[in-house]
Amino acid sequence: MKKIIVLTSGGDAPGMNAAIRAVVRTGHYHGITVFGSQLGFQGLIEQNMFHMEPESVANCIQHGGTILKAGRCLNFLQKEVRDQCRAFLKKEGIEGMVVIGGNGSFRGAALLSSEGGPAVIGIPGSIDNDIPGTEYSIGFDTARNTALEAIDKIRDTASSHNRNFVVEVMGRNTGFLAVDVGIAGGAEFILIPEFPITVRDLADKIAKPRRKKQSSIIIMAEADQPGRSIEITEELRRLTGQQYRVCILGHTQRGGSPTVLDRKMASLMGYHAVKGLLEGNSHKMVAMYNNQLSLMPLPAPDAGPRMLSEIQLLEINDILCT
Ligand code: F6P
Repeated sequence: MKKIIVLTSGGDAPGMNAAIRAVVRTGHYHGITVFGSQLGFQGLIEQNMFHMEPESVANCIQHGGTILKAGRCLNFLQKEVRDQCRAFLKKEGIEGMVVIGGNGSFRGAALLSSEGGPAVIGIPGSIDNDIPGTEYSIGFDTARNTALEAIDKIRDTASSHNRNFVVEVMGRNTGFLAVDVGIAGGAEFILIPEFPITVRDLADKIAKPRRKKQSSIIIMAEADQPGRSIEITEELRRLTGQQYRVCILGHTQRGGSPTVLDRKMASLMGYHAVKGLLEGNSHKMVAMYNNQLSLMPLPAPDAGPRMLSEIQLLEINDILCT
């Protein structure tokens, strides 16, 4: 293998730059020419590919976002579009591809590869941490720390004013982010899509006699409807007669300088992705399982997101916030 390409796709995640840097420098070390594609698969469609030297990734490890830019490329779902990209990559002599992204990005890359395109290795990158087959995806740790910092600040003002807050966090259809920041932030209630409860049941839980608190924080995962906390809180006010302020953390959770964990994981995953290609692998991703990094099959196209299964985390939180 002499030429490979790297791209970041889907929603950006802090740590993506560390992964790009590792891919470029590991490739260079092994005598491979590494190219970058701008804006994920869109760069392949526009034939916007450029050579990345080791210097081109200097001073990026500490920055959030992605120097290659990212996007969700719906056109790539069309076979004719992928055929054009495949022909372009073949003409350029690209034999391997490293895709840094989430479930949708891996699906596109697997299709391209199985239709005769380059060998593909994925690096899980998503603040949602919802990619099946890996217990860690880069960006998750930074996002949960960013959210926690905001929650701690909300706690200050909530307690000064004896107020209740509903804080909505990202995570799409999964509650990994919500549960971690809920427990770490001492939230009174945590609402996640895996274990849904009705607003009526939540209101009943709130009404149950507990130690009297003058302020409280409910962490609500966005689920399939970002912004849903506004409507739910309205209903909660009506049912409980209590006042609640709402704070939606939104895209702030996607930015910021990556944590030690994200930089380290991204660096190691980038290294293993290139090694994996050199050893003749394809249709795999660098996965974290039982605290070990290894190459695992890319998730099946119809796999759906990884879901949180430990209801006991919510039960423990119920005890800890009494
Ligand atoms: O998948 C990562 C994520 O940040 C989700 O948590 C969120 O629902 C979604 O992306 C937001 O996507 P967009 O960048 O399209 O607003």
